[in-house]
Amino acid sequence: MEKKRNYNYNIYLVGFMGSGKSTLGDTLSRVYRLEVVDTDRVIEKAEGMSVFDIFSEKGRDYFVEKEVELMRKLGKRKGLIVSCGGEAPLVPENLEIMKKGKIVYVKTPIEQILRRVRRRHTRPLLENKSNAEIAEMFKDRADVYADIADIIVCTAGKSRERVAEEVIEQLY
Ligand code: S3P
Repeated sequence: MEKKRNYNYNIYLVGFMGSGKSTLGDTLSRVYRLEVVDTDRVIEKAEGMSVFDIFSEKGRDYFVEKEVELMRKLGKRKGLIVSCGGEAPLVPENLEIMKKGKIVYVKTPIEQILRRVRRRHTRPLLENKSNAEIAEMFKDRADVYADIADIIVCTAGKSRERVAEEVIEQLY
């Protein structure tokens, strides 16, 4: 069993949809006994419906509003791993909150992301997009994620435990 870690700031996992933020959060929680909060899951639970249904029934702005409210609450706490929706850091208020902690960009190749998101059908923003359109969106966002990150962790070809270990090695 790995040693329990304690940090006096939050660690925010950012990256494109399907990049493995939730999986990394789960691994950090299991191996290093860190408390993890997956913002999409918290919002789904509070609203009693999936992110997909929130987008189609209440709209994207409503979702973003709920996400900001949640980020404000989480920003008041410490030592959390916060697995964020892909759009979260693009909202200035969220980014301000994240900057008070450490931002980890979970970097995964677009080929792998496309395989995952095509298989699942849980991402409202990607449903009606071609692979080329998704790749374009990925390219734009990747620059933002890289820009704001304190730590960049590449997941390609690595086990989930190795990815988690690389994050921990870079935190202090
Ligand atoms: C979004 C990412 C999703 C979810 C929503 C919007 C985005 O989260 O918050 O569908 O615009 O990138 P994941 O990154 O966890 O899929």
